Amino acid sequence: MIVKALKGFKDILPDEANLWQDVERVARQIFHRFGYREIRVPILEKTGLFARSIGETTDIVEKEMYSFTDRNGDSLTMRPEGTAPVLRAFIEHNLQAERPVQKLYTMGPMFRHERPQKGRLRQFHQMSVEAIGADQPEIDAEIMAMASMVISELGLDVSLEINSLGCPKCRPAFNQALLDFLAENAGSLCPDCERRRYKNPLRVLDCKNKTCQARYVNAPSIQAHLCPECAAHFQAVESYLKALDIRYKVNPFMVRGLDYYTRTTFELLTNALGAQSAVGAGGRYDGLIEQLGGPALPGIGFAMGLERLTLLLAAQQRKSSQRIDIFIAALGGAALERGVLLAHALRQRGVAVVMDYAGRSLKSQMKQAARHDSRFTLIIGENELAGGQAVMRDMESHEQVDVILSEDLATWSTALAKKILA
Ligand code: HAM
Repeated sequence: MIVKALKGFKDILPDEANLWQDVERVARQIFHRFGYREIRVPILEKTGLFARSIGETTDIVEKEMYSFTDRNGDSLTMRPEGTAPVLRAFIEHNLQAERPVQKLYTMGPMFRHERPQKGRLRQFHQMSVEAIGADQPEIDAEIMAMASMVISELGLDVSLEINSLGCPKCRPAFNQALLDFLAENAGSLCPDCERRRYKNPLRVLDCKNKTCQARYVNAPSIQAHLCPECAAHFQAVESYLKALDIRYKVNPFMVRGLDYYTRTTFELLTNALGAQSAVGAGGRYDGLIEQLGGPALPGIGFAMGLERLTLLLAAQQRKSSQRIDIFIAALGGAALERGVLLAHALRQRGVAVVMDYAGRSLKSQMKQAARHDSRFTLIIGENELAGGQAVMRDMESHEQVDVILSEDLATWSTALAKKILA
């Protein structure tokens, strides 16, 4: 019997992986433009890190974590998201001492035991960004501008929804209003909501149950309960978004699936992926670093899902921009030998070269060149070689030119590399 990959765990095959690399490259360039630097953190962490940050009553912690006890008896969890590990590293390495605002990003796999469907996996990948140490509304607008820039430079079209979840000062009054509303609806809520409404009332608004969702349309809005400071912060974020010409919509019912958020939250949404509408999401988490035992510093961040971004690109029939520069089709023993040396010299000069060593027919090698999406093919036949020449074919225009195969490989390959990379 063939062993297959686990349900919700997906192989990313080469054609797809090239597209992933394109997305990662665009994102890295833009993160750099905004002053973010990469941090790489482990996949395994102590379970307590996630329970303390994401929240004990969230779906992620209650139902979705890949947790196990290791050989030492420690409870470990495969990270379900990137924020908590990055903040753990920030605190552990005292990164606040380095600069007043630390801008960090990380990329890699995350794990949640969800019901797999299109765009929803159990191992999925995020590009996760955090700005630690600034609470000004400018940084909120800047981080949303950065997320929008990634989307627009990828040529995608998604909408931005924003909200404010207030702060520990205004949350209690909102919680009370929500509790009153839930009490009026008692008996008609799902068991999860019935249980959570006492422990963490805000959490019920994230319930996926259709009946509950229909009830919560009439729930009180947090926007109406913001304290003056939070309202002013949100207003400033909005006016910066307008000034930066970033289109957005306020969604007063957006609560997010993680407990650590305060003030600004946002989601990048599409309707091209069925039920999985968020290609990215994030928000501010001003109390979290302290809650994890670190200094009292504010923070804001977001993460984008690579599966969802690449699905959107594939739906637009977008192919990776990564191509082979030249395929060397050598016909016959002497040509093959010459081709091997030339391929190596070209690769040393930055050219991507593929060749076939099996002596297949010209037709077969031309097919391979096309499959590699090669820009050029260099055909070295016995006769051409004897005459000190080869034929270079432009695979798009089908134009063919004779090129001289001089004895001086270094000079020759430098000239050819220049021509190919031009
Ligand atoms: P999140 O909303 O849980 O936030 O996830 C962010 C993004 O990861 C989602 O918008 C989606 O694109 C992708 N994603 C989440 N779950 C899955 C899944 N099962 N399959 C495929 N893609 C998925 C966070 O994780 C926060 N840590 C974001 C953040 C960073 N907030 C502040 N800083």
